[in-house]
Amino acid sequence: MISRDALFDLSGKVAVVTGGGRGIGRGIAEGLAAFGARTILVGRTEATLVAARDEMTAQGFDVGYQIADVSKEAEVIALADAVMAAEGRIDVLVNNAGVNPIYRSVERTTLAEWQTIIDTNLTGVFLCCKYLGAKMVERGAGSIISISSVAGHIGLARSVPYNASKGGVELLTKGLAIDWAPKGVRVNTIAPGYFETDLTAGMRDNEAMAGKLLARTPLNRFGKLNDLAGAAVFLASDASAYVTGQSLRVDGGYTAS
Ligand SMILES: NC(=O)c1ccc[n+]([C@@H]2O[C@H](COP(=O)([O-])OP(=O)(O)OC[C@H]3O[C@@H](n4cnc5c(N)ncnc54)[C@H](OP(=O)(O)O)[C@@H]3O)[C@@H](O)[C@H]2O)c1
Repeated sequence: MISRDALFDLSGKVAVVTGGGRGIGRGIAEGLAAFGARTILVGRTEATLVAARDEMTAQGFDVGYQIADVSKEAEVIALADAVMAAEGRIDVLVNNAGVNPIYRSVERTTLAEWQTIIDTNLTGVFLCCKYLGAKMVERGAGSIISISSVAGHIGLARSVPYNASKGGVELLTKGLAIDWAPKGVRVNTIAPGYFETDLTAGMRDNEAMAGKLLARTPLNRFGKLNDLAGAAVFLASDASAYVTGQSLRVDGGYTAS
C-alpha cells in the first residue's frame, strides 16, 4: 500500500552531500534535511561549512559537517571513516562538489587546468563512490546521486574539460548502477541547467551571455536552489525504488530542443 508520508520520508537516514556548504549542494542538503535526513555537509572550507550548519540547524534541521577535498584519495578515505565513526551509517551520498574555472578553447587550455577539472568533477565522484558507496554496499542498501550537468548530455562552447568530466559522470553512473543493483545500491544523476550560484555568476552578470542562455531555456529563468530539492528527495527516497542508472534533467527545458 502506498503511504503519502512514507514515500518521500528520509527520517533515520544519514545523507552526505559533498560541496554541501553553498550553491547547489546547499539547496539539495536543505531538501534532504527537510524530509528528515541527518545531513552531513562536506567541503574544503570550514568557515563555509560551519555557517551553513548553523543556519540549517536554526531552521530546525539535523546537520553536521566534515572537511575533505574529494579529489584527494587519503582525504576521502578519512571522510568515509569519520562519517561511519560519527554516524554509524551512510544511506544517501550526493556527489555534488565540482568546479568549472575556465571557458576557453582547447588550444588555450593547459594540462593542469584539464587535470584540476577532471580530478574534482570525475575522480572525486569515483573516490566518493569507492569509499563512501562501499559502506552502502556492505549494508546492502543506499542511494547515490551525482550532480552532472546539461554538459553531461550536450556539448557546451569552450568547455571541453567540463564536458568530458560530466559526460564521464553520466557513464560512471550507468556502469556503477549495473554493478551495484544486485547489492541494493541505486546510482543516478541529476543534470542541472543554469542555476544561480557562484559558479555561474560571471555568465549571469554578462548581459549578452545571460540573454542567450535564457532565450534557450523554455522556462525562461535561471534555476533557484530550491528547484533541485524535489529531484534530490525523489532519488534519495523510496519514491524512486525502481529507478537506477538514470539522469534526471532539472534544466528548465534547456535540453528539450
Ligand atoms: N551552477 C550551475 O548552473 C550548475 C549547472 C550544472 C551543474 N552544476 C554542478 O553542480 C555542482 C555544484 O555547483 P555550484 O554551482 O553549486 O558550485 P559552487 O557554488 O561553486 O559550489 C561548489 C561547491 O563544491 C565544493 N567543492 C569544490 N571543490 C571541492 C573539492 N575538491 N572537494 C570538496 N568540495 C569541493 C565547494 O566548497 P569548498 O570550495 O569550500 O570546497 C562548494 O561547496 C558542481 O558539480 C557543478 O558542476 C552546476
